[in-house]
Amino acid sequence: MGTAHNSAKMGDIAETVLLPGDPLRAKFIAETYLEDVVQFNSVRNMFGYTGTYKGKRVSVMGTGMGCPSIGIYTYELIHMFGVKNLIRIGSCGAMHENVKLGDIVMAAGSCTDTNYAHQYKLPGTYTAIATFDLLRKAVDAAEKLQFPYVVGNVLTSDVFYDEEADWKRWKEMGVLAAEMESYALYCNAAKAGVNALAIFTVSDSLVIEEEMTAEERQTGFRNMMEVALEVAIQV
Ligand code: HPA
Repeated sequence: MGTAHNSAKMGDIAETVLLPGDPLRAKFIAETYLEDVVQFNSVRNMFGYTGTYKGKRVSVMGTGMGCPSIGIYTYELIHMFGVKNLIRIGSCGAMHENVKLGDIVMAAGSCTDTNYAHQYKLPGTYTAIATFDLLRKAVDAAEKLQFPYVVGNVLTSDVFYDEEADWKRWKEMGVLAAEMESYALYCNAAKAGVNALAIFTVSDSLVIEEEMTAEERQTGFRNMMEVALEVAIQV
């Protein structure tokens, strides 16, 4: 049965779902990489599609921006639609000079300034981490495809326009990049005992003045999508 946010029926969505923030990127991935595509959702224009990649059934759906939005969609994918492997493919802002535009960042862990884990009433701070098996497969795929990548900690922030430059304190702790969703994804997956991974293309840098050409942007995103699809067919 569908939900208020997703009109799919049980069985319409594959066990493995790629999750870009932008629903039009979900459409692009479905049209570019998948065969035999069926659209399962258009509620709030949060497009979702199921098809096959190299013969394996895979879905792709937008999440929107921020923890509340990805929190809703991924909770429903897991609990109402039986999804077992959730792979976020997003963009991030680099905090380190050695993390370049177009590189892939893989979030081994996510720090956060959000209050998302408050719901679990834990007696301390929850460290949100990727599922190691998915992370290892993503690293192997990036190595094989010879795409530049880094693995480490990211910051999931509620604040995009960071006027106080709070990100600098996260940088001092070795955090590689900022984005806005992976902490909620990792929490939802951990609580439900399913698998999650978040990888990003560096779309901007907080430390280097650099512009990406439209072509570089597209190549960077394609590299990330191909890594995610390679993981998807192995789980
Ligand atoms: N901050 C937060 N999220 C982002 C950024 C950023 O600089 N770039 C892309 N997503």
